[in-house]
Amino acid sequence: MASSKSLAMFCFLLLTMFTNVALKAHARAFFVFGDSLVDNGNNNFLATTARADNTPYGIDYPTKRESIGSESTLPYLSPALTGQKLLVGANFASAGVGVLNDTGVQFANIIRMPSQMAYLEQYKQRVSEIIGPQETERLITQSLTLMTLGGNDFVNNYYLVPFSARSRQFALPDYVVYVVSEYRKILKRLHELGLRRVLVTGTGPLGCVPAELAQHSRNGECWPDLQAASGLFNPQLQNMLDSLNREVGSTTFIGVNIRQSSIDFISNPAKYGFVTSKVACCGQGPYNGIGLCTPASNLCPNRDIYAFWDPFHPSEKANRIIVQQIIMGSTEYMSPMNLSTIMALDAAENV
Ligand SMILES: *[C@@H]1O[C@H](CO)[C@@H](O)[C@H](O)[C@H]1NC(C)=O
Ligand SMILES: *[C@@H]1O[C@H](CO)[C@@H](O)[C@H](O)[C@H]1NC(C)=O
Repeated sequence: MASSKSLAMFCFLLLTMFTNVALKAHARAFFVFGDSLVDNGNNNFLATTARADNTPYGIDYPTKRESIGSESTLPYLSPALTGQKLLVGANFASAGVGVLNDTGVQFANIIRMPSQMAYLEQYKQRVSEIIGPQETERLITQSLTLMTLGGNDFVNNYYLVPFSARSRQFALPDYVVYVVSEYRKILKRLHELGLRRVLVTGTGPLGCVPAELAQHSRNGECWPDLQAASGLFNPQLQNMLDSLNREVGSTTFIGVNIRQSSIDFISNPAKYGFVTSKVACCGQGPYNGIGLCTPASNLCPNRDIYAFWDPFHPSEKANRIIVQQIIMGSTEYMSPMNLSTIMALDAAENV
């Protein structure tokens, strides 16, 4: 968490709700890949600066990893992830990573996508030793996966510094095309490895987070550069998912439009019970958007009336709104269908 540009975790809630939904229908393994938005602790087992285990990040999530017990999807690197616990799934995500290998170079020892996928292969090997290869294939085929990737390719790469290497190499529209084409290869590999239901989240409104307002905004307006990036990236991502689904001949990849659900409460915070969508609950400086949330930061008295918990991450209440859309949202939020529809389809198929 030492970098002011680091995107930390926000998603214990998201993961917990997903895990519960995923497990309710029938015993279905749950996997998580990608970046910090869904990193529930792998980086805490690494010697890296991109960590999220220092206070007050634990305020809403006091060692939840332990307290949920066998039901939660443990970080793959957790020593506790052994034996029967492996059958519940695993979280391979790592704060700071992107689609591109050069994203997050400022963080030492993060688990980039090629390694996350290599860990899935290793996982399959380990599970195979417990339940055999055939049952392992079944577990993988019937699993549910959450993939969150791409935001860091802009925040922690293209726009990390003015005149970054990537921004000198590519105009933004060309960079987006490149990132999406590399992302396609990653998703294709996940399909090759046997995954058949993968929720793929786009990027949020990256230019509207308090950290960007603090650096670029005079009157609370979102930073147009990052807004342009997510505006280009999200629709191309969805097109790529649609084309990949056609290629593999099934609805394996489901797009999650986090940008839309976030814009809802950012543009109309009062409708959702927030007093502000610009000032973070925890932080310092303008919009509480400078640096990190630490024990020395300003801390708001009521986290539920802030859309942002810290300079980069939505509050728990805001996450609930996003999760709600994932589970029941219309095609504006979930494409081609929402999670409850997927669960119903799969339950019918796997009886
Ligand atoms: C990223 O690294 C992996 C292995 O380290 C390599 O196979 C892959 O081609 C690299 N991707 C790009 C876009 O360079
Ligand atoms: C989303 O979920 C709701 C509630 O389960 C359902 O009624 C609706 O038809 C779904 N929409 C789509 C597009 O799948």
